[in-house]
Amino acid sequence: MNKQNFSSIVILTGAGISAESGIKTFRDQDGLWENHRIEEVATPEAFIANPDLVHLFYNARREQLFSEEVEHNKGHEAIATLIKEFKGDVTLVTQNVDDLHERAGRALNLPDGHVIHMHGELSKMRCKETQNVFTSEHSLDKNLRCPCCKRPGNLRPHIVWFGEMPFYLDKIYEALSKCELFISIGTSGNVYPASQFVSFTQEDCYRLEVNLAETTVSPLFHNRRIGKAGDTLPELIEDILKGHLFNLSRD
Ligand code: OAD
Repeated sequence: MNKQNFSSIVILTGAGISAESGIKTFRDQDGLWENHRIEEVATPEAFIANPDLVHLFYNARREQLFSEEVEHNKGHEAIATLIKEFKGDVTLVTQNVDDLHERAGRALNLPDGHVIHMHGELSKMRCKETQNVFTSEHSLDKNLRCPCCKRPGNLRPHIVWFGEMPFYLDKIYEALSKCELFISIGTSGNVYPASQFVSFTQEDCYRLEVNLAETTVSPLFHNRRIGKAGDTLPELIEDILKGHLFNLSRD
C-alpha cells in the first residue's frame, strides 16, 4: 500500500470495544445475551408479547451502564483522540447502544453528536405513536406515561430490534462510499447491514479489522490487528496520526 495519507476515515465499532469496560458482548459461547435468547428481548414481537420482560432487560442494561463500575476504556479514548486530532474527516459509526464513545469524547471536549448510533441508545426512549425521542437514564415500565402523548404504555427503548431498520443508513452509506480508510473494531460481522459495510467501500479504500480473533468477514480486509481493542488501538491511532499506516502491507 503506497498511500501515505488518508483524508477520510470511517470507523465501525461493535460490542468488542466495550468488552474491556465490563459490558458483555452479544455472542458469548453459550449463545445467550445476559442469560436471554435474543428473540426473547430484542424483537418487536417480544415487546408486544412480554413488555415487562423487555423493559426489565433494558432497565438492567441501563442500570449497569450508568453504575460506577462502567467506564470508557483506552480503545474509546484512542478513537476520540483520532477524531479530535485528525486533519480530515472521521465518521464514527457504532452498533453499540452504550454511551462510552461519548464519555471518551467529552473528556476531550468533543460534542456528543460525533457518534452515529445505528442501533439506538440505551439512554433514550421513544414514543411509539409520535416517534419523539426523549433522553432518560431511568428505568422504563409499561405504565409510565409518555411525555408527549401522555398515554401509558407508549414508551419503548430507543433501540433497533431485530427486524427493524437501523438508523442513519443514508448518512453511513454516503461516508462509506467516500472513505479512504475503513476500520472495523470489535464486531463479529454476524449482523446485517453492518456486516456488509466493508463491501460498500471503494476498491482503493484501505480496510483494516481489529478483533480478538478472525471473523467471518476477515477475508474482505487488507489487514488485521489481532488483540484487545484497548491494547491495539492506541498504537494504531498513533500510526494513523503520524501517517505511518502506509507501512502496513496487504496480506
Ligand atoms: P458480537 O458479540 O457479535 O461480537 C463481538 C466481537 O468482538 C467478537 O468478534 C469478539 O471476538 C470481539 N471482541 C470481544 N472482545 C474484544 C476486545 N476486547 N477487543 C476487540 N474485539 C473484541 O457483537 P456485535 O458484532 O457488536 O444488535 O453485534 C452486532 C449486533 O448484534 C449488536 O449491535 C446487537 C447484536 O444483536 C442489536 O441489539 C440490534
